[in-house]
Parts: sequence; structure tokens; C-alpha cells
Amino acid sequence: MKRLVLVLVVVLIALPLFAGGQQQPGAAAQTFEATFAHVVRPTIAKGQAADMFAEMVAERSGGRITINVFPDSQLGNDREITEQMQLGDIEFNAPFTGVLPAFVAQTQLFDLPFVFPDSRAVYDAMHGEVGDILDQYLLDQGLRVLGYWAGGFKHITNGVRPIRTPADMAGMRIRVSQSPLLIAQMRALGASGIDIPFAELYTALQQGTVDGQENSLANIYTRRFYEANQYMTLSGHGYLGYIFLVSESFFQQLSPDLQQIVVDVAREVGEWQWDAAIAEDEEFLAQIRATGTNVIELTPQQRQAFIDATRPVYEEFARTVPAGAELLAALERATAR
Ligand code: SIN
Repeated sequence: MKRLVLVLVVVLIALPLFAGGQQQPGAAAQTFEATFAHVVRPTIAKGQAADMFAEMVAERSGGRITINVFPDSQLGNDREITEQMQLGDIEFNAPFTGVLPAFVAQTQLFDLPFVFPDSRAVYDAMHGEVGDILDQYLLDQGLRVLGYWAGGFKHITNGVRPIRTPADMAGMRIRVSQSPLLIAQMRALGASGIDIPFAELYTALQQGTVDGQENSLANIYTRRFYEANQYMTLSGHGYLGYIFLVSESFFQQLSPDLQQIVVDVAREVGEWQWDAAIAEDEEFLAQIRATGTNVIELTPQQRQAFIDATRPVYEEFARTVPAGAELLAALERATAR
């Protein structure tokens, strides 16, 4: 009898443990397969960072999260990818800010002409008050910000004539991304801003659908835009910044420890990405020069003429973008040094 009671007690104590033991490994073993789609070459800092993020998340999560990376617009252009993120069909992307105004008008802040004196100012704005404000706008659209990445200052290439003054751009058709502000900026320079998806840009330049385009040195070189555009003006008139996003619906499916892994890896990769993007900028400029491209450097007076001509775009931003004036004030605080 004593023996029977002892067996019963042991069984009663062990049962919940046993039941829990079955659940816990089950819960811990829940696995996720996700997609990281983007539009640039895998060899530039942004593409490398996407691959690095996927590898590190797989490793730190012990294989519980697998991320398949699709570069080069394989899954569509940035707008299509971002729409699919909202639907929960694609999990990660790091779009250029210039394609995000369709989702959050306030992201145009980063597209303002001549707003950042250097990369450090861009970094500070993105990782301070301005970034915090945009994080919330994007989250309201189902897009969680995991970081802000560097692309580099944008320069103008064209196949018509050397551009040294805004007057040289008169009547030119220049490809920009969908941002209304970028289109307004081209208008202010006497050109037409034409929205063409990034993957179609090379052909558009070759076929003369547009005369030129604005982009980072990394994209100009790795997309071979210099083949159709023999002139490149080092205007540095705007910044090509990226916002690293995860679909909020996917993020919420992850357990807190997996969420923490995603956030931590994103932070570490983000730091690496900035250094890599800044370093590669110089290398790509040398490589573009080596192709025989006519590289035009602006004198301070010529640069000032571009600054003056594009100034009205600020007023347009403050007037047309909700909370635009407050954002501009926050940006001024971030860049005042
Ligand atoms: C990108 O760098 O992701 C795209 C840039 C562009 O659309 O011009």
C-alpha cells in the first residue's frame, strides 16, 4: 500500500513536468522562414548588409529563423515589395527613402536638397529625434523600423551635356524615384523629374526615355549607368538613405527572445553598414573615373546656384507634408553643430 501511494505521488509530481516538457521543446522549436527582398546589387554595402543580417539571425537563433535574400528587384520594385510587407507576404526590405512617401509622406524629409552637410549629419538625424518620429509614422503603416542605413550622397549623370549650373539642366528629363519632393526639386532646376522603377532605369537611359538620373556612386557604378550617361556632376545635392524595415505582422509572430535577436543583429549590422557604405563611396568614384566618364566638380559658386535654385522645395515640404514644419525644425536641431 505504502509503495502504491509512493508511486502515485511520483506520477502526480512528474505528470505536469512531463506535460510541460513536451510543450516547451515544441514551442522553442517553432521555426520561421522569411524573405528579405531588395533592389540593389548584392555586392554593395546595402546588399552585403542584407546577407549578413540573414546569416547572423540564422546563427543567433539556432536556425529558428531562416531569411532568404532576393536582391536586384527579383521580387519587384521597392513600392511593390513594401506593399507586400504590409500584406505580410514579404518580411524584410531596406528601401530608399525616396520610394516611401507613398506610405509615409514625412519620409521626404531625407530627400530635401542640400539638407545634410556630411554623412555624420545624416547619421545623427536618422538615429535621433527625427528617426524616432518617422519610426512611429512607419509603424502606423505596419512597417517596423529596424535601422537606418547609408547609401551615399546623390550625384547627377546625363548623356546630353556637362551640367555645371541649373541652366544646363533646362528641359532635361531626369529620372527620380516616386517622391513628389524629388520631382519638385527637378522642376526647381528647370528639368522634368520622371519616375521610373530602379530596375528599368538602365534601359530607360540606353533608350533615351530619360536624359539622366540622380543616384549614389555605388548604384551609378554597379548598375553601369555611366555607359549611357557620359557626364557625371558631383552635385551631392541629396542623400540616398535607406530605412531597414520588417513587416510588423511578422515581427509580432516572433517570441520575445527572437524579437530581441532580430533587433540586436539589426543594430550590429547597421553599424557595419554605415562604415562600409562610406568607405565604398570613394572606391566607386575612382572606378567611375577609370571608365572615362566626364566627372564634373562644382566650384563653390556653382554649388551655391544649385542650393539657391532648389530652396523653394523646403517651403513646399513644410506646406504640403503634414507636420512638415515640425519635422524641419527637428532636423535643424539634429544637424546644428
Ligand atoms: C536603391 O538604392 O535602393 C534604389 C535607388 C533608386 O531607386 O534610385
